[in-house]
Amino acid sequence: METLTIRRPDDWHVHLRDGAMLEFAARYTAQQFARAIVMPNLVPPVTTVDAARHYRDRIRSAIGAHHSFTPLMTAYLTDDIDADEIATGFEEGVFAACKLYPANATTNSAAGVTDVRKLDRVFDRMQAIGMPLLIHGEVVSPDIDIFDREHVFIDTTLAPLVTDFPDLKVVLEHITTEDSVEFVSAASDKVAATITAHHLRIDRNDMFDGGMRPHAYCLPVAKRRKHREALRKAAVSGNAKFFLGTDSAPHQKHDKESDCGCAGIFSAPVAIESYAQTFEEEGALDKLEAFASEFGPHFYGLPLNDETITLERTGHAVPDLIEDAEIAIVPFHAGETINWRLAP
Ligand code: NCD
Ligand code: ZN
Repeated sequence: METLTIRRPDDWHVHLRDGAMLEFAARYTAQQFARAIVMPNLVPPVTTVDAARHYRDRIRSAIGAHHSFTPLMTAYLTDDIDADEIATGFEEGVFAACKLYPANATTNSAAGVTDVRKLDRVFDRMQAIGMPLLIHGEVVSPDIDIFDREHVFIDTTLAPLVTDFPDLKVVLEHITTEDSVEFVSAASDKVAATITAHHLRIDRNDMFDGGMRPHAYCLPVAKRRKHREALRKAAVSGNAKFFLGTDSAPHQKHDKESDCGCAGIFSAPVAIESYAQTFEEEGALDKLEAFASEFGPHFYGLPLNDETITLERTGHAVPDLIEDAEIAIVPFHAGETINWRLAP
């Protein structure tokens, strides 16, 4: 059987949730990835060092001793976030980064920032201490078409921000457009982007394939095919500004299949396999390791992982549903057979 062995990857953007969902979902990330940047959009959000420490303990205990996995915690920025709290958390090694959600841009972002530039003092401090700012890059105005929100965010908010804070490390998370690829490529080496497994594979038509497909709905919403093609090119380009971040975001099947279905795609069970399939289709399997396991740590200033994982090239039937007690989730690639499987 053909195999592919790479340095163990990290996930630079994941939602592990809390409570029963955390107990259920965390193992899927830990079985693939050595480290993950854990999103803070819990209810209530993770805004203090103490809350992050406790959340990190809950993650560690959910994962148990089966996997060696390091959760990297993030602080949820609000209008009145305290710069000292953020800086203390970073200096104590609890916070790896801050996450900026424009208020109401996505799931559990109601407590997010209403006016990004009100946080200039916080950005100033982050820039001084080298703390990365992770951005959900969408404007929220109902006047802006949902398919244009990322592009408009770049023009109105991100471009001036990176000009005014040239040394601030910025990750534009889960990019979905050619405009983002171009912006990040042209920016300084302080600016990078994560790319999800699903945005490399779906475009907006997948949400309407013979009917409404709630399991293809996430935010930022998938765009036209030409944007997906630009993302694929960026991912396999070998440009160190683009690295792996799954944005795996589990929601119960019944919450997605409702009259107002939640945004989010649960890719953790097949994430590295899905990326491998995409890279293979692009004739670029040799570029997977750098994208998945090297460029992220370089950007964050962290060491590379020493361990490896092996993928086997074999028919891998992804289940329609992954369930356990009261949780049932339709995973990314549900019901499909993909080419790669993580070796046991
Ligand atoms: C995420 C979630 O469910 O928490 N949803 C999503 O569609 N990606 C939030 C986010 O990252 O936007
Ligand atoms: Zn996310």
